[in-house]
Amino acid sequence: MSWSVDRPMARQIQLTRRPEGALSADDFAARSVPIEPLVDGDYVVRNAWLSIDAATILRIGDLATGYLPPFALDSPMEGWAVGSVVESRSSRFQVGTPVLHNYGWRDHTVLSDRVTGWGAGEILDVGSGRSLRDYVGRLGTTGLTAWAGLVRVAAAKPGDVVYVSAGAGAVGGMVVQLAKARGHIVVASAGSADKVAYLIDELGADAAFSYRDGPVEAGLRAAAPDGIDVYFDNVGGTHLDAALQAMRAGGRVALCGAISTYAPDSTEPGVRNLFSAIAKGLTLKGFLARMYADDFDTARAEIAALVDAGTLRFPEVVSQGLDQAPAALLDLLHGGNIGKILVSLGI
Ligand SMILES: NC(=O)c1ccc[n+]([C@@H]2O[C@H](COP(=O)([O-])OP(=O)(O)OC[C@H]3O[C@@H](n4cnc5c(N)ncnc54)[C@H](OP(=O)(O)O)[C@@H]3O)[C@@H](O)[C@H]2O)c1
Repeated sequence: MSWSVDRPMARQIQLTRRPEGALSADDFAARSVPIEPLVDGDYVVRNAWLSIDAATILRIGDLATGYLPPFALDSPMEGWAVGSVVESRSSRFQVGTPVLHNYGWRDHTVLSDRVTGWGAGEILDVGSGRSLRDYVGRLGTTGLTAWAGLVRVAAAKPGDVVYVSAGAGAVGGMVVQLAKARGHIVVASAGSADKVAYLIDELGADAAFSYRDGPVEAGLRAAAPDGIDVYFDNVGGTHLDAALQAMRAGGRVALCGAISTYAPDSTEPGVRNLFSAIAKGLTLKGFLARMYADDFDTARAEIAALVDAGTLRFPEVVSQGLDQAPAALLDLLHGGNIGKILVSLGI
């Protein structure tokens, strides 16, 4: 099989240094590298959409977190991407096949059908009202993380009071809406008055507050005066501390992320209220969405039903062009987004 190569080079974003202070666009470079000739099993995906994800910031540092390893310097960065096969020596991934994979931050990615498992190429169902773009958003890791954390990790029950931090972000906004659809009482927090209004007026949260208006524990006490049963933690630090204090006996915490601690210059204090977990018999459980891969079909069906019913809001902030990816990541870190941040590669 051949591909008339009008773009023999792949453009990619590389990390050029590990910042010691604040992360900046100068820590990244866009570089072009040749696409090597394929061997049997290889295929080339021309990426159409890149997902911008908070966890990317973790891999810019060199902490041994047990998550994916730190990015190597002067090598392509990674992250979720969708696109179509444009050249192939694979029997499974033929030219035109829509593919999801975790080797984005570049316009073309060479994959191999010899590599399987998490992050390797997954053939997508883009029929029946589903688009490529959905798989870096509501039907991708964003939606699946929200579903797995709420349903499997926290095992939220009807009538539970569910608190979610970073509620106006991509994962948080999905949690708010899934929780409302499942009959929970939902409290959310975010970093501005606009986001608080969005949480209540657009997403249907029962109460919301801005953590910038005062201590998180005061905001949470006002929003949920009788306490909470579930905390979906996207932020960590003082948010987790306040949630532990607000928990009712037997409450559950889904530890999804800790974005307040990700920036290289973060000064977020550690958790002081851990004894609450002992005193109230709480369960705190960390998770990665991929640990619930067996549930993905169920989760996608539940999310798709909300999409089909026209009730799911999923705003997207779209940057145009690969070179904008570092700025988009900085925007996420600084709370510039309502909803999901994507980069369009213009195809
Ligand atoms: N466990 C998993 O498998 C998994 C998968 C995907 C994502 N995650 C986690 O889910 C969380 C959300 O990720 P996302 O990709 O959907 O990003 P996002 O929520 O769309 O964007 C991040 C948001 O975090 C908030 N934020 C940033 N710094 C903060 C701080 N110091 N204190 C409080 N809030 C802060 C900002 O909103 P404000 O304006 O509200 O500050 C920002 O919009 C992250 O912790 C991420 O690591 C986990």
